[in-house]
Amino acid sequence: MTTPSKRVFIKTYGCQMNVYDSEQMNTLLRNQGYSDTQTAEDADLIILNTCHIREKAAEKVYSELGRMRPLKENRKGVKIAVMGCVAQAEGAEIMRRAPVVDFVLGPQSYHHLPRMLNAENTSQDMRLATDFEVDDKFERLAARRGAQSPAAFVTIQEGCDKFCAFCVVPYTRGAEHSRSADQITAEVRALVRHGVREVTLLGQNVNAWADPQEGDIDGLGGLIAHLAQIDGLARIRYTTSHPRDMDDGLIAAHANERKLMPYLHLPLQSGADPVLKAMNRGHTLDHYKALIARIRAARPDIALSSDFIVGFPGETDADFEATMQAVRDIGYASAYSFKYSPRPGTPGAARDDQIPEPLKAERLAALQELLGAQQTSFNASMIGQTLPVLLERPGRHTGQVCGRSPFLQSVFADAPNARFGTMQMIKIENANRNSLSGTFCATTDEADPDMRKKSA
Ligand code: 5AD
Ligand code: SF4
Repeated sequence: MTTPSKRVFIKTYGCQMNVYDSEQMNTLLRNQGYSDTQTAEDADLIILNTCHIREKAAEKVYSELGRMRPLKENRKGVKIAVMGCVAQAEGAEIMRRAPVVDFVLGPQSYHHLPRMLNAENTSQDMRLATDFEVDDKFERLAARRGAQSPAAFVTIQEGCDKFCAFCVVPYTRGAEHSRSADQITAEVRALVRHGVREVTLLGQNVNAWADPQEGDIDGLGGLIAHLAQIDGLARIRYTTSHPRDMDDGLIAAHANERKLMPYLHLPLQSGADPVLKAMNRGHTLDHYKALIARIRAARPDIALSSDFIVGFPGETDADFEATMQAVRDIGYASAYSFKYSPRPGTPGAARDDQIPEPLKAERLAALQELLGAQQTSFNASMIGQTLPVLLERPGRHTGQVCGRSPFLQSVFADAPNARFGTMQMIKIENANRNSLSGTFCATTDEADPDMRKKSA
């Protein structure tokens, strides 16, 4: 008789790095006999993979833990673990504030969970793992997972040395650290063997990637060219980049690598030079605009995306207007925007010229209206074009499928017999702010959806 397997429920907050880590954790636990479940109620192990980037994100963890307390009281043996950036930043505090938590694991310590689960001794030391030991983690977790979707994330770099004045990442994820080209290539090959057609290379500062083995592969542009040689891999993306690390090799990759998709997330944060300086971003608006001009010269149809923060301490009305004008001048296909949230331990939080919440909210609403209008019009410009779409998952109703355009837009189409993981040409007929829809035309083997040869 086989013993029924234990079930794990993982709830993921925050960025794609956390999504990747949750997938890795799932694989690790599957190897320990756990199966995954989509509901906390029937789980033996509940894991919250947390985000510390803004105050709201961090507070969610404590309210979620409050909601989970009865689950633990109702069923014997249920264990709760907190992983991710809140775990890293507030490990001991979580243990104190939420006794319901059994284990706390920082982003570099996930591979310790099986040992912690198996240990009889659950002293505080055994239950809290928040050391930085990046090499070990990658070695222990890499390339063991099976692919669940034709589009997968691959972490190639973690951490950050830039210390933007608003950001907790250098404290929660530690110093910049790149995985080796060999390790990344092995992981991508394994994913492709499992049916993956698209990879998104992830890093907090992904374009700061440098091969620690100092081989022939020069920077992220070189790595992309290297991975593009893998047969069966159709598309490559990367995120998140810093303007200071957008080097010539990477810009050239946008011109030369047909598998590199025409989409770039390049956060500007603010369009005002005094704010950029106060944020310690290390560049001006002119520098950013010049960069965009070079990237557009390399890849004219590239879709641009950005992050913006409004209400950083000291931001004047004129500074905010400079951000609005920068958005009008540059033109974005999509963007994320946030109210500044003071994070403990960061220089921005210590300033005494904080902006009142209502003013932040007013500025955010104005910026989001502008960005929303740009996104809607970018999507509308696709109507009438035939785009290659990698089918990833079922759509909203029976027979409908959903995939991504080269520009990362969600595209819906009725194609009841189409297989996920195939590339389909879809004629776009409708567009709204968040997605496109159209009719299925043909399957394409053409890995490169070269947007410069647009179909009528
Ligand atoms: N407050 C608001 N937004 C922030 N971000 C990072 N830290 C903060 C903060 N303290 C935003 C930045 C970053 C994105 C991931 O989150 O725009 O690019
Ligand atoms: Fe945070 Fe700045 Fe590093 Fe990005 S570059 S992770 S915003 S400190």
